[in-house]
Amino acid sequence: MTSFRRWFLAVLAASVVKAEPVQDPDLQLPPSASIHQATVKELFVTSYEAYQEYAWGHDDLLPVSESYFDGRNGWGASIADAMSTMWIMGLTDWFEQAVNHTANTDFAISHTFDTVSLFETTIRYVAGFISAYELSGGQYPVLVEKAQDLADQMAHAWVRENQSIPYGFINFANLLPTIATTNIAEAGSLTLEWNRLSLYTGNSTYQTLAEKSVQYMINMPTPLPGMPAQGIDPLTGDPVGGYVTWGGGSDSYFEYLIKYARLTNTDDNSYADAWLTAADTSVKTLLRSSTVDDWLYLADYDDDQVIRHVGSHLACFYGGNWILGGKLTNNETLVSIGLRLTDACWNTYASTATGIGPEGFAYISSDGNFTGNTAPSQEQLDFYYAHGFYITAPDYILRPEVLESNFYAWRATGDPKYFNNAISATISFKKYLSTTVAYTGIYDVNNVISEKIDDMESFWFAEVLKYLYLTFDDPNHISLDEYVFNTECHVFKAPPAKSHYGSGSEPQPVSSQPFSPMSAPLPAVSPNPALLRSL
Ligand SMILES: *[C@@H]1O[C@H](CO)[C@@H](O)[C@H](O)[C@H]1NC(C)=O
Ligand SMILES: *[C@@H]1O[C@H](CO)[C@@H](O)[C@H](O)[C@H]1NC(C)=O
Ligand SMILES: *[C@@H]1O[C@H](CO)[C@@H](O)[C@H](O)[C@H]1NC(C)=O
Ligand SMILES: *[C@@H]1O[C@H](CO)[C@@H](O)[C@H](O)[C@H]1NC(C)=O
Ligand SMILES: *[C@@H]1O[C@H](CO)[C@@H](O)[C@H](O)[C@H]1NC(C)=O
Repeated sequence: MTSFRRWFLAVLAASVVKAEPVQDPDLQLPPSASIHQATVKELFVTSYEAYQEYAWGHDDLLPVSESYFDGRNGWGASIADAMSTMWIMGLTDWFEQAVNHTANTDFAISHTFDTVSLFETTIRYVAGFISAYELSGGQYPVLVEKAQDLADQMAHAWVRENQSIPYGFINFANLLPTIATTNIAEAGSLTLEWNRLSLYTGNSTYQTLAEKSVQYMINMPTPLPGMPAQGIDPLTGDPVGGYVTWGGGSDSYFEYLIKYARLTNTDDNSYADAWLTAADTSVKTLLRSSTVDDWLYLADYDDDQVIRHVGSHLACFYGGNWILGGKLTNNETLVSIGLRLTDACWNTYASTATGIGPEGFAYISSDGNFTGNTAPSQEQLDFYYAHGFYITAPDYILRPEVLESNFYAWRATGDPKYFNNAISATISFKKYLSTTVAYTGIYDVNNVISEKIDDMESFWFAEVLKYLYLTFDDPNHISLDEYVFNTECHVFKAPPAKSHYGSGSEPQPVSSQPFSPMSAPLPAVSPNPALLRSL
């Protein structure tokens, strides 16, 4: 074979397996980015310093009363959630302090009287530790050990041999679960984390349990094709009710279907296919546009077969998820819907007095205004006629989803409007969320002198400030073509993408070089010798 021929075949082979990138390869970072990035880092530093002073070791800072709250079993949720962001921001001293705190914490017992949430503990603590372990190049194995301590206790959420769906809460003192309905988000958002835990511990049980749960839901009877009801009984495996939504309680089940396919590159197409079926059903059944300004939303549905014209901050992750999923499945229709969903969610920010979006909202489309709740008041209708949505829950509790989708839209298109949205949000946060010591939620996004909510959720550190920081960062840093983000914005390094995901995708040629998330070039680090000794 001539060398030209060999070269040509190599190019051909590469072009067959090469996927469309998720990110716009020509994205131009505006020169002002570094100023805005510095502002975001300053928000992080101020918030974390206040946490260190008033709440160190506890879960949340209460930024108004300058005290603390332990709502996540008292293991220091803010520390776990902040670690991956610290690494990305280059705050390595604090990162090491956080590793040290983690190493000195006993995760086999709850430090409060509460039961342990399988979902919250997985997406915040387990993911936070594993992401921090990967980002720091594997130099702190104690992070994996602590994640494993948690998962070993949480594995008791599956009680019976024939049980696929875990219970949502476990008592760590006696390892008994709370016997109650689980929701599909709780049962379906473990795969990314438990897969990585199996990879680093060599114990496949974690991955097997998480996959078993999702496979069960993929194959169960559903009110709409590919869209399971929100509730599920772990004992019988039966659906509970028939409520279908991309919002809270269901959200990350859908989110993880496509992300798990991407993170593992599995030849099992069932994950990507299930995501595509849910997206297809959503296009056919749930997609609604407002009669004012034509904003696009994904409505909810109940098994009375009536559409609920509602939206939520939580559901606003869907724009970014459709952009990602549309790119990975080579479906530009889904990408463009994802962008329009993102724009409608951003409109909920752009339309309020503070420039920050509400927790809950609703709208009217050509098929009516039914929400399952009370009809809109005159005041809400006036707001609707001006903005194409109306507010049903006016608070903001430091949630990330709108800026998350805005980040995907920015990296995927390079359209400066997304960059500018992030600037507006940063300015609003600084102006309207500040307390004497840090930043906090507000009760009314449409009131510039709203009373403050006295809690700084740990996802302020994990998600809001990371998505903003990365929007203002070099697009090659934590590229969406190289990392998969868990639902708490902790990042996992992914292997090179397949040509596309879902049925019909080519089996991947077996690489002679097994993928290792740790083989990536790492930022220079100088481990603190005092810290290493203490471990
Ligand atoms: C793997 O983890 C599971 C779940 O904690 C545990 O029951 C099992 O004993 C572990 N297997 C090994 C070989 O350590
Ligand atoms: C598992 O077994 C229990 C008791 O034998 C039974 O009641 C339950 O329906 C079974 N669950 C599933 C999901 O098959
Ligand atoms: C993209 O997805 C939509 C919605 O499921 C579907 O109707 C369309 O056929 C898909 N397009 C391609 C090119 O696969
Ligand atoms: C809301 O729906 C009800 C019932 O269909 C209808 O009577 C009413 O006119 C609608 N209101 C608006 C503002 O669309
Ligand atoms: C590590 O943590 C322990 C206990 O929390 C503390 O006493 C020690 O000073 C810490 N060391 C470093 C280097 O941060």
